[in-house]
Amino acid sequence: MKIVMVGSGYVGLVSGACLADFGHDVVCIDKDAGKIERLHQGIMPIYEPGLAELVASNVKAGRLSFSTDLSSAIDGAQAIFIAVGTPSRRGDGHADLTYVYAVAQEVAENLKTPAVVVTKSTVPVGTGDEVERIIRDSGTATQFAVVSNPEFLREGAAIGDFKRPDRIVIGAEDEWARSVMSEVYRPLFLNKAPILFTSRRSSELIKYAANAFLATKITFINEMADLCEKVGGDVQDVARGIGLDGRIGSKFLHAGPGYGGSCFPKDTLALLKTAEDYNSPVRIVEAVVHVNDSRKRAMGRKVIEALGGDARGKRIALLGLTFKPNTDDMRDAPSIAIVQALQDAGADVVAYDPEGMEIAAPMLPNVTMAKGTYDAVAGADAVVLVTEWDAFRGIDLDRVGQLARGKVLVDLRNVFNPAEVRAAGFTYSSVGRP
Ligand code: UDX
Repeated sequence: MKIVMVGSGYVGLVSGACLADFGHDVVCIDKDAGKIERLHQGIMPIYEPGLAELVASNVKAGRLSFSTDLSSAIDGAQAIFIAVGTPSRRGDGHADLTYVYAVAQEVAENLKTPAVVVTKSTVPVGTGDEVERIIRDSGTATQFAVVSNPEFLREGAAIGDFKRPDRIVIGAEDEWARSVMSEVYRPLFLNKAPILFTSRRSSELIKYAANAFLATKITFINEMADLCEKVGGDVQDVARGIGLDGRIGSKFLHAGPGYGGSCFPKDTLALLKTAEDYNSPVRIVEAVVHVNDSRKRAMGRKVIEALGGDARGKRIALLGLTFKPNTDDMRDAPSIAIVQALQDAGADVVAYDPEGMEIAAPMLPNVTMAKGTYDAVAGADAVVLVTEWDAFRGIDLDRVGQLARGKVLVDLRNVFNPAEVRAAGFTYSSVGRP
């Protein structure tokens, strides 16, 4: 089956490479000629484990190619995926659909053979209707359908998530579109992956509802962590105690510095805006957005408290900057607000991240970027674990203690064993643990 993937960013590239690996003939398109040129050379625009290898093997097998030219690529394609960005619109927080509609327009102008146009980008309810209108209004004579097929890929685990999904959601309004989509995902049906056919609008909403629910779960446990600190409980025991109840489930109950990344912050905000537009407020999600926003900066205050309430002139080493491990993504990373809070309090911030420093450096111009973990902690008054990269889990605490000026360790991901850290002579604080 010939498939065109428009947008070779995170979602488009991972999905395109995986679909090629299923045996389809896939062309990934991007407007950015530099990106396409680098992809031709095997250079990935993002860091994602396994992606470079998957791309290389499928390019070699002749199933995957890259181009800037959508108009010629779509000829004969049975499925055309839209996987371009839908960032928060500056000013009002609605999802910015400029790129999605521009692709729809270009598809409309060039569509000559029957195709299903699939929206993979996260788009507000009703966007599929508008994409369909754009294509219909172009007067194309060929058969087409517009389908919603949201992605649920986690950065850092995206290839596994694509190939072994919890479920595939397909929002389609006609039988032909459903049959084309069944063909796209045939290898997964053979693996018995649950597939859910819904209306297009339900499918669009499922994506937002899933992300908002997960964001709620995280925010709930984060507030329980705060309460644990006040009442003397241990949030990890609380999380385990509630998570063993099958109705609650144990995942996404790790307390931390607040969620970040390219999806949860923008999608929760966009859901609020949709709900406002339809005069059907989602107050729980409103609270989640608000609580999470203030939490990130509050983590800076937590560090200052660990330093005895005054950070002026203190050197603070941050371990990890990306919003989570195994990615170089800095979008809405808690580290940004934490750095700001510490610098506002007069601290001198130094940081190290295994993959994120190239992207982080221009975003955090007043932070000294260290060459490695031990370089970062040298001379520090406090060490703060911000992102739980595996490389930090096994750090040599004795060595950190020798290199640092002060023995204060703030663990915002509850990675370390409190007894061990204290035995190494540190003043230790973590999230929601005694
Ligand atoms: C998420 C969704 O998981 C995915 O299905 C969707 O398609 C895109 O958004 P991603 O942004 O890659 O994926 O990251 P995820 O692993 O879900 O983590 C999101 C944020 O929540 C991170 O900042 C992470 O640190 C935080 N988190 C996650 C917690 O603080 N606690 C948890 O228990 C889980």
